[in-house]
Amino acid sequence: MSSHEVVLIPGDGIGPEVASAAQAVIDATGVDIRWHTYQAGIASLEEGDRSLPEELLEAIRQYGIALKGPLTTPVGGGFSSVNVALRQRLGLYANLRPVRTIPGAPSRYQDVDLVIIRENTEGLYSGDERWEDDDSVVGLKRVTREASLRIARFAFNFASQHGRGKVTATHKANILKESDGLFLTCAREVAKAYPQVHFTDRIIDALCMDLVMDPNQHDVLLCPNLYGDIISDLAAGLVGGLGNVPSANIGQDAAIFEAVHGSAPDIVGKGIANPTALVLAGVMMLSHLGEDEAAEKLSKSVRNLYESGGPLTPDLGGEATTEDMTRELVSNLKL
Ligand code: NAI
Ligand code: MG
Repeated sequence: MSSHEVVLIPGDGIGPEVASAAQAVIDATGVDIRWHTYQAGIASLEEGDRSLPEELLEAIRQYGIALKGPLTTPVGGGFSSVNVALRQRLGLYANLRPVRTIPGAPSRYQDVDLVIIRENTEGLYSGDERWEDDDSVVGLKRVTREASLRIARFAFNFASQHGRGKVTATHKANILKESDGLFLTCAREVAKAYPQVHFTDRIIDALCMDLVMDPNQHDVLLCPNLYGDIISDLAAGLVGGLGNVPSANIGQDAAIFEAVHGSAPDIVGKGIANPTALVLAGVMMLSHLGEDEAAEKLSKSVRNLYESGGPLTPDLGGEATTEDMTRELVSNLKL
């Protein structure tokens, strides 16, 4: 069996709790992984280092793959997002977020099966905000043809490789005629090369309604950065919450696997964080490493846990701890 080198970023808040759970179940699949642990964000600042240490970037460049817990970003002032910086500095241009019902997970909806593909490097996350005078700020939304074509190609490639019939571009090009207009134009252009995939577009506010009324009318959603961020959390709410949805940040030379959720300061240290999202990110990571058998085994272990009714953490209506769920996931792997 070949061995893999993976960077592990435990993260802030509930990050270390869910990261050690994910690490334990991934190791329990039997895949041989050498973990290289690095701090970032607040954990790194507390150790006297920068919020995004250069050695961490170097390690991800070297090994090409990381599993990451959430990192806290201060609201309003303070340091800028390390999550955004990681994506931009490493060119992780595609954020892939499969949002699927896990049978048995408590939710108002059944059989949800969406894939959100979010442009991950530009748009309103350029971080370029300027005070014009004491009372007004301009925030720059940057949209380039290159990045828009690249993410559209990623979405159509993904759809055709995974037998998915429809790609819907989301935008607000009725108002943002130039910026979202360019994003949509690029999507339309790429769509021509994929006649087997149906292409459509939907204005973002109407799409939000669609998702709440009947999520199953959509398939692959191609989104600019901000809309992708917002509808990811909306879509998570359709499948039992943020604790259940994984995410992959993919570039030419590296990939970072994480949860959609953040550091959840309201439940930190209580031992009740739901580890499912990061465990499912681990499933995506194992597939990416070519460990398909282990990925399937781990995915089955998650399905078994929910189908048998738990144990479940409080966000899922249960009373179990992160450790209870982790123990069950590990024991399901032996079935
Ligand atoms: P959040 O995702 O951390 O929490 C939102 C709600 O969902 C909270 O009530 C929380 O308890 C719950 N929740 C999230 N994950 C859960 C889990 N695994 N199990 C059980 N409940 C869970 O979003 P919030 O509070 O807006 O952000 C907190 C911090 O996280 C902020 O600093 C934000 O910038 C950061 N963040 C980091 C992300 C990343 O590292 N990729 C992504 C999103 C937010
Ligand atoms: Mg988000």
